[in-house]
Amino acid sequence: MLENNSLKRDGFSSKLGILATTAGSAIGLGNIWKFPYITGTYGGSAFIIVYLLCILLIGLPIMLSEFILGRSSQKNCVGAFKKLAPKTPWFMGGWLSILTTFIIAGFYGIIAGWSLNYIFFSLVGKLNVSKTVDFESVFSQFISNPWQPVLAQIIIMALAGFILISGIKNGIEKYSRILMPLLLIIIILIVIRSLTLDGAEKGLDFLLKPDFSKLNLAAIISALGHAFFSLSLGMGVIMTYGSYIGKENNLMKTTLQVTITDTLIALLAGLAIFPAVFAFNIEPTSGPGLVFITLPNVFSNMPLGNIFEILFFILLTIAALTSLISVLEVIVSFLHEELKWSRKKSTLITIISTTTFGAILSQGNGVLSNFNIPFIVEGKSVNMNIFDWFITLSDQLLPLGGLIVAVFIGWILKDKVTKNECSSNGLYKTPYYSVFKFLIKYITPLLIIFIFLSNIFGLFK
Ligand code: PHE
Repeated sequence: MLENNSLKRDGFSSKLGILATTAGSAIGLGNIWKFPYITGTYGGSAFIIVYLLCILLIGLPIMLSEFILGRSSQKNCVGAFKKLAPKTPWFMGGWLSILTTFIIAGFYGIIAGWSLNYIFFSLVGKLNVSKTVDFESVFSQFISNPWQPVLAQIIIMALAGFILISGIKNGIEKYSRILMPLLLIIIILIVIRSLTLDGAEKGLDFLLKPDFSKLNLAAIISALGHAFFSLSLGMGVIMTYGSYIGKENNLMKTTLQVTITDTLIALLAGLAIFPAVFAFNIEPTSGPGLVFITLPNVFSNMPLGNIFEILFFILLTIAALTSLISVLEVIVSFLHEELKWSRKKSTLITIISTTTFGAILSQGNGVLSNFNIPFIVEGKSVNMNIFDWFITLSDQLLPLGGLIVAVFIGWILKDKVTKNECSSNGLYKTPYYSVFKFLIKYITPLLIIFIFLSNIFGLFK
């Protein structure tokens, strides 16, 4: 019976599909609005070196561990722990993933909606009246409106639901295989435009020139935290996708491919954004401000800017949509397999509940903006609206989820199982297996504890 079930389980149909889908999750808002900016402020290529080290010491081992958990169990994030460590409390690690993905799906859907709405704004020329538009107030009026962002969110969530309902092969994989190459083409077009502007070199300097004096402890902590977020780690996404990967695929190689693709796209995003920003002497900002305020300003100054603006927001929407699908799939697969609901019912309930939650969070930018809740950040209590509060909470939950995975693979799961997964039952050589095992047992968990404590208590400053 069990055998029968696992035979019928949906899964990826090709290597390219695995890469497109997993990279689709990893490549998201983090690559486009966060990585380029933190790289620029923390010393350009000097920071990139630290980031690559974090990827090597934390990103790769955790991603591989999540793939191992998923593929060896062939289950959703809760079922995986139940199957691999029956009658122990480890399954609560899976519950933590459900909580984290629920929160992320809530706010990510809203931000994906902003992006979708900005395609519309660019199409109708709302951002295009050169120099007379106050881009900051367009953005703040838009996000504080009780309905408009929610309407856009509902459209993007419905789109995600439509893709999810068709399952893995005919849903997530099929659309990722179309959307990810499109994303690559668009980003390359924008990079070419940006690099050929007069004065583009200043942006290149900002992004790439090594400045080791800016590499302080805050830079290292940022790099560690970003490695987590950018690779979609610590929330069961990679575990869930891992459970759809066939036994004949080389997990170590897939991990490397996804990580390299994610990092390259982040670098391309930097090459698309900063040369253009600096060519027009505009001060770069961080976070949403960079893409929703600074960039529209840049595009309004650029010849053919409107076309590139539309392309840019299509790019951002695709990146957000494929990431959104991956967090939602964690919940859908859990409901489908653990509660035995049909895929359709699981998808509908997931979409409705996370959309409602996100719509409430969105009010934190508007009608509920005066309702503040304290959060401990770096040892200080900071008041935040509900939108920012839940984003900050999810930032703290990711390393916790990652720590559980690292300890489980490093100390609990039988070495034979881990090794068999890495070699696909002896099909592939695993020259780096002992390095991986050493990292995941000692180095990765210690580094995660370090980020976690420094984020909350502001230690080691
Ligand atoms: N990796 C995505 C990014 O870089 C973020 C993400 C987080 C995606 C959680 C899915 C789940 O934007």
